[in-house]
Amino acid sequence: MLTFAALAVPEQGVKRGAAMTKLNANSRMALTRARLAIRDDHRRLDEMAVNLQKASDRPALASVLETMYPVLLAHFAHEERPRGLFSALELCIPEHRESLQRLIQEHQKFASSIASILQRAKQKAENGWAFLVQEVEQFLEKLHLHEKTEDDLIEAAMAKA
Ligand SMILES: [Fe+2]
Ligand SMILES: [Fe+2]
Repeated sequence: MLTFAALAVPEQGVKRGAAMTKLNANSRMALTRARLAIRDDHRRLDEMAVNLQKASDRPALASVLETMYPVLLAHFAHEERPRGLFSALELCIPEHRESLQRLIQEHQKFASSIASILQRAKQKAENGWAFLVQEVEQFLEKLHLHEKTEDDLIEAAMAKA
């Protein structure tokens, strides 16, 4: 996964007026592109979240998680890629750098959580269903908050770019 060393803000563009305009035009274009792609991803993940909540047994839960896992990883990679969402946000709203760093760390936690829940959903266990459901709920709550934070940062960046 991406680290913030890859998100360094270019020196040029910040110092002089003309370059600043160019930086803003590029940032705005990158943001607009990222915003559209991310919006579709978030909508798709919301639909999967509904399916997860509908799962009434382990096989159904495992089936949805197996579909969601690669989609989620691809989404995180897309957000973190060079010239992707986080890169554009870092350029436009450097004052939110800590929030962006936290979002990247959360990607790693979400990937671990979903893998762990999936592994246990596949087990033929008699007990522990209620606990698993509770974990799924907590996972979805955190994921929803994460995506909401990204949407809010995109709006903040769009207002500035
Ligand atoms: Fe994210
Ligand atoms: Fe996201």
